[in-house]
Amino acid sequence: MEDKRPAWSSRYTFILSAVGSAVGLGNIWRFPYIMGQNGGAIFLLVYLGLILTICFVPLFAELAVGKITKKECVSAYESINPKFKFLGILNPITGILITSFYFVVGGWIINYILLSIENAKIANLEDYFANFTQNSLSVCIFTLLFLFICILFTARGVKKGIEFANKILMPIFALILIALTMFSLNLPNANLGLEYMFKPDFTKVNAQMFLSALGQALFTLSIGMGALLTYGSYIKDDKNIVKSTYVIIFSDTFFALFAGIMIFPSIFSFGLEPSSGAGLVFITIPQIFAQIPFGNIISAAFFILLFVAAITSGISIVEVPVASMIERWNISRVRACSILFIVISLLAIPAALSFGVLSNFKILDKTIFDLFDFLTANILMPLNALFLCLIAGWFLKIKGEQFIKNKFVSFLFDIGLKFVIPIILALLLYIGLK
Ligand code: PFF
Repeated sequence: MEDKRPAWSSRYTFILSAVGSAVGLGNIWRFPYIMGQNGGAIFLLVYLGLILTICFVPLFAELAVGKITKKECVSAYESINPKFKFLGILNPITGILITSFYFVVGGWIINYILLSIENAKIANLEDYFANFTQNSLSVCIFTLLFLFICILFTARGVKKGIEFANKILMPIFALILIALTMFSLNLPNANLGLEYMFKPDFTKVNAQMFLSALGQALFTLSIGMGALLTYGSYIKDDKNIVKSTYVIIFSDTFFALFAGIMIFPSIFSFGLEPSSGAGLVFITIPQIFAQIPFGNIISAAFFILLFVAAITSGISIVEVPVASMIERWNISRVRACSILFIVISLLAIPAALSFGVLSNFKILDKTIFDLFDFLTANILMPLNALFLCLIAGWFLKIKGEQFIKNKFVSFLFDIGLKFVIPIILALLLYIGLK
């Protein structure tokens, strides 16, 4: 077993793992479908605006709080002020709720990889998706399998599990993504997809879109549930976390744009609908694979891409409650992972059944799956990010000049951390929930 406070082998493996956490289903599954539902290019514009102006501060603050306190979330918050312990606990709780729907999608992906390898010919992909997601037993089995794989890596520890997974999987991810994007850009009428992505229609702007864009920005950058705080706490000697923050933000945005450029040209090339929602990569995209030569091989590559992205992010989400349990309860990593396996299973199974036997069970007019997604991305992550900025700015007294040489930028950072970002986050939460 690793010692209780593990550390990254190098700055490179830390950044690779942080990028692995950020780049995930949020980029390839959630981003294109949320963009498709929110009018395409205009959503992209709002999203990029939020990433560049708002997200830098909380992302940096998460890494800094982790690096300075050298503790997992709950103890990190508690060490700043014992009254903040409750706010710290919200982080692993958010993480557990995220895994409960994220891993269901991970389970669907495993099924689609197997389907592509079998070269199964499916006449109606929409019916297939509906029937498959309703098939409680297989969805539950695949969800648990996905959970098991993530837990297995996490149980092996930071160096042998998390770093190892990212070192192998991230290059595979990048290669497959580049190859599929090249393929998509060479399809006839690919330009229509690019226009949809990059030519904004300003009549489609609305308040709800801002909250969706913010939720997506936080979700895709892994901000607001302690994953980066926990990863930051394993940093040994990286003085320049500002640079690391930029690398994480730019890599994630780059991969999201690449994913859009891979997906939208293919959709438009085949005259399909970009606004079909969560089924976009499971119904619309496979319709394309069904029509092209060697479609099953390309389909397998696409779903392996999704799988790899989901695993490296899933590992980072699982690490948050695992780190908390190890350090708070003084138990072994394997025991923490076993407990978490049971807890997540108990929540993920009802989420997995949301498309089948529990499809009529609704809270706030949402199925359990949709509720977990909405609650985490649109409420808990912005809230956690808000608290984190306030705590880091006012109580830990992180100052820009500690990390940023340029006086003006460090001044902007201080103002952002203490006032601007918390106010914007609160405002967006208020507008979106009204
Ligand atoms: N950023 C991941 C994605 O885009 O899929 C999801 C995620 C990972 C969210 C880690 C939150 C987190 F802490």
